[in-house]
Amino acid sequence: MILFYSASGNTEYVARTLAKTLGDECIDLLDRIKKSDFTRIYSKKPFVICTPVYVCDMPFFIRNYIKKLPFRGSREVYYVFTSGGYAGISGWSAKKLTKRKNMIYKGHAELKMPSNNIVSNAYPDTEPEECLKRIKDCTAKAAEIADTIRQHGRLRARHIFLFEKAIAVPVGYYWIRYKQPSKDFYTTDKCVGCGKCSRLCPVNNIEMYKKRPVWKAPCAHCMACISNCPFEAIEYADITQKKIKYNISKYTDMTKLRKSQTRR
Ligand SMILES: Cc1cc2nc3c(=O)[nH]c(=O)nc-3n(C[C@H](O)[C@H](O)[C@H](O)COP(=O)(O)O)c2cc1C
Repeated sequence: MILFYSASGNTEYVARTLAKTLGDECIDLLDRIKKSDFTRIYSKKPFVICTPVYVCDMPFFIRNYIKKLPFRGSREVYYVFTSGGYAGISGWSAKKLTKRKNMIYKGHAELKMPSNNIVSNAYPDTEPEECLKRIKDCTAKAAEIADTIRQHGRLRARHIFLFEKAIAVPVGYYWIRYKQPSKDFYTTDKCVGCGKCSRLCPVNNIEMYKKRPVWKAPCAHCMACISNCPFEAIEYADITQKKIKYNISKYTDMTKLRKSQTRR
């Protein structure tokens, strides 16, 4: 059973590729997270949790959701992280989370995908050619990961050092609280008030007011709003105007991949 959350499509691409290769079911967790739906999930096959990396760790809202979600059937859990190149302490967090749930941690994989963090000047745009290369490399790696999972083997990623934990935990805490303001999001005249941004916000942070989105706090800075706006009408401070609004569907046909798969 493949479970995923994805803001701009990278993780969804990996999750659906794994599901296709393994002939397994795939669940998009967005609606469940939004509605705090903790209906138990049953699978005979191992659980594979696919998530992006935010600030060197698993996104807090995914971790909090998985923490409370009852898993039935298989006791084995794999994690697959997509990041712009540094997954930080995500594997360590995943291991702790799995042990707390009395399940068997079967390791994690880290996949380098295009960075979608376009509201930060710290991350330059990933060039289109590089985006295509990373997506292609990931497709090959997903096949290897699927092989390991099929054989109930262990996924092995790099070692996470103590100094990484010592830095990432306080930095993440500070960054999420103080460096991710939502007040800098705004819409331009291109906004038609369709409300897609509000529907895709995993933490229900965007309210429609007079047919325009209003961002509240706390924002997860996941980029779901800005990277899925059909009119590219969302901007952030003076940072995003000239940047590519990254979404994987600009590089690969997601509709085809989604077609054959179950969604709950
Ligand atoms: C708020 C935020 C923080 C991020 N932090 C990291 C990071 O610490 N390291 C990294 O390599 N990529 C980072 N990224 C990039 C994403 O992890 C990466 O693009 C991921 O594949 C996005 O997945 P998605 O398209 O499924 O949402 C960050 C992205 C966002 C939006």
